[in-house]
Amino acid sequence: MTIALPIITSALAEQSSAPPVAPAQANRVGELFDSHGRVIHDLRLSVTDRCNFRCRYCMDPDYSYMPKMELLSLEEYLRVVRVCVSLGISKIRVTGGEPTLYPELLELLEALGKMPIKDIAMTTNGSLMTERQARAWRTAGLDRITLSLDSLRDDRVAHITRAKTGLQSTINAIRIAQAVGLTPIKVNAVIMRGVNDDELADFADFAREHKIDMRLIEFMPLDSGRAWDRSAVVSADEMLDAINARHELVQLDKHDPHSPSLNFGFADGAPGRIGIIASVTRPFCGACSRLRVTADGKIRPCLFSLKEWDLRPLLRSGASDDDLGAFVVDAVWTKQKGHSINAADFVQPDRAMSAIGG
Ligand code: 5AD
Ligand code: SF4
Repeated sequence: MTIALPIITSALAEQSSAPPVAPAQANRVGELFDSHGRVIHDLRLSVTDRCNFRCRYCMDPDYSYMPKMELLSLEEYLRVVRVCVSLGISKIRVTGGEPTLYPELLELLEALGKMPIKDIAMTTNGSLMTERQARAWRTAGLDRITLSLDSLRDDRVAHITRAKTGLQSTINAIRIAQAVGLTPIKVNAVIMRGVNDDELADFADFAREHKIDMRLIEFMPLDSGRAWDRSAVVSADEMLDAINARHELVQLDKHDPHSPSLNFGFADGAPGRIGIIASVTRPFCGACSRLRVTADGKIRPCLFSLKEWDLRPLLRSGASDDDLGAFVVDAVWTKQKGHSINAADFVQPDRAMSAIGG
């Protein structure tokens, strides 16, 4: 059946996607501020929503990718980043989907490497990484990578990712990243009750053995299949108890207030670290310094934003850098105070993590 949709003129569409004008204090002394007094200096740039995995907590098998023509070009990504950097962004994380599927990744990293950015990181599932590529990324200016590994058992990895992959693929990626200096390496595991919560202490062993920072993440309602359920969330407290039962943890005193993770070392001085990302049970929104731009050019001030601001019409209609900058400043000003996952009226955003950028 065909449904007739109302025709919205592009001018109207543009109007409706422009944020309200922010007051002058939104961008002063080269810093970006939101209306809650937070300084925004960390940009997450998604360069594709494609992925060779279909992780259960992220992307359903029937997820439809965004049409290619809606995705920004390399020049458009770089222009957005340049404008953001001129406004005060000093850290950038390249994400996806799976960013290594983005054909112009190396060109992107080379251009980012020439910009005055303090820290360039990338989140990847690591499955397609070769040493040659990783060395080129490092030379281009990529500082470090974050990998994904949700189980230490091959059958479970394959079940969770719905892909023909396993533990060895991530161990290989860790080895490559260590060899080329893409460090410190973080490895993400999304912990889900009844799926991998019996492996918490094993993940701690893995961090010690491979001398990496293991990030244990509370399951968030950002899956395209909308299977998230509060009962599937394993809390930070439960995670800490399970690990402490095998290895005593010590909270690292140098806690970065902008870091979403609670960071721990091992009391016996073994290498490796544990970072717990407790977005659900201990929200860290008050210290959030992040801004997200999706692969199709939408500014999302928050992971859980229900309203996003579309840069693409400006990028494709001859807007100046000043126009783009003003749009970014206004969009950042609308950043919500926090997510409301724990509120009765919580509404899950339409976009899944793969289309937002982790
Ligand atoms: N909850 C928590 N973390 C998630 N990620 C993806 N989906 C979710 C979710 N629903 C994280 C994964 C991945 C990164 C890109 O985002 O850890 O490594
Ligand atoms: Fe792909 Fe990452 Fe989503 Fe898994 S979490 S499906 S690897 S984008």
